[in-house]
Amino acid sequence: MATDRTSIHGQWSSRWIFILAATGSAVGLGNIWRFPYITAEHGGGAFVLIYLVCIVLVGLPIMMSEIMLGRRGRRSPIHTMEVLAEEEGRNRHWRLVGVMGVFAGFFILTFYSVVAGWTLAYIVRAVSGMFTQAGAQQTQDIFAALVSDPERLLAWHTLFMIMTVFVISRGVKKGLEQAVRYLMPALFLLLLFLVAYSMTTAGFSQAVAYLFKPDFSQVGPSTILVALGQAFFSLSLGMGAIMTYGSYLSGRASIPGTSVSIVVMDTGVALLAGLAIFPIMFTFGLQPEEGGPGLIFKILPIAFGQMAYGRVLAVIFFTLLMFAAWTSALSILEPITAWLVEKTGFTRLKAAIWSGTFAWILGLGSLLSLNLWSGVKLFGMTFFSLMEYLSVNIMLPVGGLFISLFAAWFMARSSSFAELGLSRRAYLAWKVGAMFIAPAGVILILLQEFFGFLG
Ligand code: PFF
Repeated sequence: MATDRTSIHGQWSSRWIFILAATGSAVGLGNIWRFPYITAEHGGGAFVLIYLVCIVLVGLPIMMSEIMLGRRGRRSPIHTMEVLAEEEGRNRHWRLVGVMGVFAGFFILTFYSVVAGWTLAYIVRAVSGMFTQAGAQQTQDIFAALVSDPERLLAWHTLFMIMTVFVISRGVKKGLEQAVRYLMPALFLLLLFLVAYSMTTAGFSQAVAYLFKPDFSQVGPSTILVALGQAFFSLSLGMGAIMTYGSYLSGRASIPGTSVSIVVMDTGVALLAGLAIFPIMFTFGLQPEEGGPGLIFKILPIAFGQMAYGRVLAVIFFTLLMFAAWTSALSILEPITAWLVEKTGFTRLKAAIWSGTFAWILGLGSLLSLNLWSGVKLFGMTFFSLMEYLSVNIMLPVGGLFISLFAAWFMARSSSFAELGLSRRAYLAWKVGAMFIAPAGVILILLQEFFGFLG
């Protein structure tokens, strides 16, 4: 039976709002900023294919598991894992899954807030008409001028963190719900519009081939790990964000249906972002792999600079991108804040300020690693790329692995069956996915990364 526990933090008004909020969490910089440049760095089509396989085979069962655990525990991830472990007669160290999630959240926020700051800066640049008729060289210079200036980056990073703390401090209904209701549909429409524009450019067919014709000679040993990490990152899995949102979900909502909607929308946005951006690159003779983390910031302004009403559209685009980043950042800070509230009895405001400040301080490292500290390397990586690598490629998959192991192996069948509310056949499909396929996928890929046995 589903439990009659409730969350002290509140509940979503409806299942639809939960879908929007979870989609708001999933759709973010990961889809529009990270997916295109990571795809470019890993050779295009083959990467996209592996990514899609990871989404379906690993992402979907874990998404269902995370929502299920959250809704059953009705607390922040650390406490949810603690309560459920106790209830199922398991070791209380399962709480460490939640603890790692808190760390992963901080690590992600360090670079997320900095990049989200770029979107804020680009709104101002778009308003001022800086991109009008700009060529590839100019847009690259505009980007370089921004990231090489620590003071400007600091101002934007700070502003973004304040925005995030502000919404979180207002709580689930007054903060989170209001933020996602209109923004997500608007973002979707604008992306469709950009794709329509890109379809008229000369590079479109080349881009389609690049994205959808797998060339496996491009697949290196780390490609699969990167695709897996990107799947976790994009779906917001493995650190408890979705678990926390699930803890505010009504007991009546269907978990599988909701999960599929979130996964479909998230993947749709990533593919659309690819279809918006690569045609422009090919049209202007730019090489995808050279873009790096600045890819969309250097490429899209070229198109905006050429098209009719480009200035207005650029403003709208970067505003929506900022909103997408914002709704995702909220879901990264929420579990940490909820945990602090539960643990210390702090008010939401106080808890949000503490966690936001801590993330802000760590973010300074990412910010400086783009300029003053660009020569400081740990394991051959800058602070920014180290945080990104550790959180996305290691911590999220490991977190997701333990989440699915707990849900499928360590919970009584009666508990998971009742909570998921599936038909017998669908339950079996989930069970096979969460018990074997997802864990085996994550374990094999991680082993391959560390021991390189696949070559
Ligand atoms: N899914 C978000 C994106 O694609 O930008 C990033 C993210 C949010 C990752 C929440 C992890 C998380 F818990």
